[in-house]
Amino acid sequence: MNELDPSLRSSAALDASTPFPSPASGAPRARDAVRDLRPSQIREVANAGFGLDDVLPFWFGESDRVTPAFIRDAASASLAAGGTFYTHNLGIAPLRASIARYVSGLHGETSSDHVAVTSAGVNALMLAAQLVAGAGDRVVTVTPLWPNIVEIPKILGARVETVALNYGAAGWTLDLDRLLAALTPDTKLLMINSPNNPTGWVMSREDQQAVLDHCRRYGIWIVADEVYERLYYGEPGALTAPSFLDLAGREERVICVNSFSKAWLMTGWRLGWIVAPRALMDDLGKLVEYNTSCAPEFVQRAGIAAIEQGADFTLELVASLRASRDHLARLLREHAGIDVKVPAGAMYLFFPVPGGQNSLELCKALVREAHLGLAPGSAFGPEGEGFVRWCYACDLARLDVGVERLARFLAQHGLR
Ligand SMILES: Cc1ncc(COP(=O)(O)O)c(C=O)c1O
Repeated sequence: MNELDPSLRSSAALDASTPFPSPASGAPRARDAVRDLRPSQIREVANAGFGLDDVLPFWFGESDRVTPAFIRDAASASLAAGGTFYTHNLGIAPLRASIARYVSGLHGETSSDHVAVTSAGVNALMLAAQLVAGAGDRVVTVTPLWPNIVEIPKILGARVETVALNYGAAGWTLDLDRLLAALTPDTKLLMINSPNNPTGWVMSREDQQAVLDHCRRYGIWIVADEVYERLYYGEPGALTAPSFLDLAGREERVICVNSFSKAWLMTGWRLGWIVAPRALMDDLGKLVEYNTSCAPEFVQRAGIAAIEQGADFTLELVASLRASRDHLARLLREHAGIDVKVPAGAMYLFFPVPGGQNSLELCKALVREAHLGLAPGSAFGPEGEGFVRWCYACDLARLDVGVERLARFLAQHGLR
């Protein structure tokens, strides 16, 4: 508009003459809700070890084993056959059918039209939150907790209230009355993760029933993050931890989130699923369209192989994780003098460590000085301060070396 007026060509002149505030003034920045998200403290610790090549990385939630060959082969076969196109938003029909049969076997009759394929668990959590929570809504979570679940609703402008688990002689436990009291009639959504990352806490069936009854009364949605359901050591012979799907009808306000990452060691594939009321599925399809459009076909074909041929693999994995858990707990007691409680689920020990009052600083020092990579408890909420999380999904020899390093560090710092 100022093309003809040379006096207005300089930016100073433009600014002075602009009759409204220029949106271009100031540094470009994201909106406040995004800027207020907490950065990952685990990443901060990992950065402290940047350049060190022999750090033992127990900080992330994944196994050191590669995805089983039969699953990788299924993806290769699909790629060779040209499985490179967009698919249906809710996933290819044979995968939805496989998931429906799998869920039915574990938790009771579930049809394909209650199942949506997602780009792993974290995307499933985002989609579930987008489906039911919006700006200003009250969302309740139980902490300590994997930070993503606390931060996701905030991206949508929701308010997140947390209810802390208690730590005592029995390990981490839930005060059910406190949780029910927090689930006020104006609460929109409870996002709850069991088996829990980082504590390994497993919600009992009785507590699930009480929470479900309460949420039914007030119309509160439940998003149940059950990605660790198969990593359960609670009852001998049980194939899965207690699930909200065992108790709730499929048309109720319950959205269950799951993943291929943990039970079939497929973290890098980004494949998961949602079980939700049929009435949500069209809207869920729209959200998938606008987020990712679909999971890649060859990844979905790998998911079919995981479910159809992976039952024995998962049983063997769970047995080896149980052995690793018990091994690590024994080593920590015997060699580092740390009394760890052994939880019934997931793949972590989450324990108070001497000198860990500032767990972030302690974990940075552990990386720098002992080349030991642990996740600071404060990454999982204020009630995690003083604790560290150790992922034990690795071979026993690595755990041996890790505990040796921890014990040496504690001795050098006069902490034991
Ligand atoms: C509690 C919990 N939920 C969901 C996820 C998501 O996993 P993914 O996105 O790999 O399926 C994780 C990953 O560590 C987790 O710990």
